[in-house]
Amino acid sequence: MVEVGLTWVRIGEFAWSRLEPQKGVYNFQWLDRAIETLGSAGLKIVLGTPTAAPPRWLLDKHPDMLAVDEFGNIRKFGSRRHYCFSHEGYREECSIIVSALAERYGSNTHVAAWQTDNEYGCHNTTFSYSPSARDAFRKWCRKTYTGKGNNGDISVLNAAWGNVFWSMEYENFDQIDLPNLTVTEANPAHRLAFSRFTSDQVVSFNKLQTDIIHGYSSSPITHNFMGRITDFDHFAVGHNLDFASWDSYPLGFLEDRVGESASLKKKFARQGHPDFQAFHHDLYRTVGRGRWWIMEQQPGPVNWAPYNPEPLPGMVRVWTWEAFAHGAETVTYFRWRQAPFAQEQMHAGLLRPDGEDAPAMAEVKAVAEELRDAGDVEFCRASVALIFDYDADAAWRIQPHGEGLSYFDLVFDVYKALRSLGLSIDICPSKMLDFEGYSLICAPGLMYMSSALKLALADSSAQILLGPRTAVKEENMSIPVPLPPDIPHADIAVTRVESLRPDMPIPLEKNGAVINYREVLEGTSLVTLKMSNGAAVAMSEGNIFYLGAWLDQEGFLDLLGPICDTARLETISLPDGVRRRVIGEECFWFNFNEEAIEVSGLLLDPISVLRQVTE
Ligand code: GAL
Repeated sequence: MVEVGLTWVRIGEFAWSRLEPQKGVYNFQWLDRAIETLGSAGLKIVLGTPTAAPPRWLLDKHPDMLAVDEFGNIRKFGSRRHYCFSHEGYREECSIIVSALAERYGSNTHVAAWQTDNEYGCHNTTFSYSPSARDAFRKWCRKTYTGKGNNGDISVLNAAWGNVFWSMEYENFDQIDLPNLTVTEANPAHRLAFSRFTSDQVVSFNKLQTDIIHGYSSSPITHNFMGRITDFDHFAVGHNLDFASWDSYPLGFLEDRVGESASLKKKFARQGHPDFQAFHHDLYRTVGRGRWWIMEQQPGPVNWAPYNPEPLPGMVRVWTWEAFAHGAETVTYFRWRQAPFAQEQMHAGLLRPDGEDAPAMAEVKAVAEELRDAGDVEFCRASVALIFDYDADAAWRIQPHGEGLSYFDLVFDVYKALRSLGLSIDICPSKMLDFEGYSLICAPGLMYMSSALKLALADSSAQILLGPRTAVKEENMSIPVPLPPDIPHADIAVTRVESLRPDMPIPLEKNGAVINYREVLEGTSLVTLKMSNGAAVAMSEGNIFYLGAWLDQEGFLDLLGPICDTARLETISLPDGVRRRVIGEECFWFNFNEEAIEVSGLLLDPISVLRQVTE
């Protein structure tokens, strides 16, 4: 590892059965030796807590700690992440093992960082419909829906959820069940509350561990988030971390979780989506409040996507540089040596199962070489803020209003359009109120917008793009009256909405089309974009634009172009598969294409990165 130029190693994240082979019987000798071996060779260690892989004996002690899926099935032992975030006994076991580790290694100088658990939410493990979750949810409801002077008065919750509908009213908090297995859909307010509760459970589960580790160690703590897992609030988890990290599997993601056309997937099958990784880089930079890593970078074919092709030569280097260009402090690869056994035996490492170099090794060595002479990438705000909100993602999941419509896809469509205009973006939480320095702020699909955010946006001199489906719901998912979006000083109202079949796009007056979702806009504010039949699609008042439709890429580009001009943002029309990131005085160019491309007076080699000083 040292010869290759690696400096960090993460270990231990699933090792519970070897650390505590029986209840209360610990075996740290092997880990002592591993840490000493790695550390004395000059490597810094990230020590993972093993709580994503509870050992078999723990189940005998707490048979009801397993999560229950929405269909009522118990999720069994035999892989990983088989726990319910709400199980008190499991939390207690986690505290014990994390305390034992933190106590033993908290002052070990080789342990230079910690990782809590592993990929919260991966394999659909955020939600659990277990009795423990139900009991904890009841408590949460009692705490959340207790208005002033209404201690324990269920009428607050009944009113907030609209439970008079279909006679769903409760008489007390102990009657509240989880919103699964209902005859037809459960009340969206009930589901949104359960989603908020579940997110809070993940946050407190993580905080339990960070509080313990901080008590023994001054090394920073992270968690490795997984791409496109959106069912808990990563910003809130990040609040208790010292830096964020995420696991980047560009080829696995393209096949598994990017909603794109078959032709695009084919074109980039060995490169990954040119915007998907960058989206997460821009997101986790904010989650980590400026500090973030890639904890797992794909180094070759993985085992888990529908198809698992090999990356093109040069791609591992480009992915690594792309992370650094977006401000990553460190990129580590998963994994060092391909494991010849168990579930991930078909997953490449930097070494083959026989210990010989796999193809990515040469690229990793090249990057390590290049980094030796490279200065750090500056940290500064981008010019565009794009709001991403986990609660809004939940609201869309609960009420997509059209098959397959997702908040993530909507925000990602806006992100792609901004990126193809050559813009650099910060992905920001909806709790952010300081927009100093941004020229453009976009908040698509943010169904519930707090009045604090509304006021902060109204105060900002940036150009602001809201909609579709922004500020259209109250906090508990009901439709506000007067009708939304109720923007200060503007006369714009969403009076009706419709969702569209994939085969019924509606052409815009000039280029592009409305797809997926459309709102009927009424009011006297200025109409800035129309459909071909003359109906308003976007309206504006001063620097605030409200877009009442989901647009295709052409439509988004047509809408954003003039808004960016007014915002004095320098845009450029980038070819497919070419992206850039401008940061301070520097610009990084990326070419994901197998051909050389000329852009802005530069010749970009096939599969390449080019670092350019702009001034
Ligand atoms: C991640 C996980 C790793 C490994 C990897 C395989 O989800 O953190 O432990 O499973 O994927 O690609």
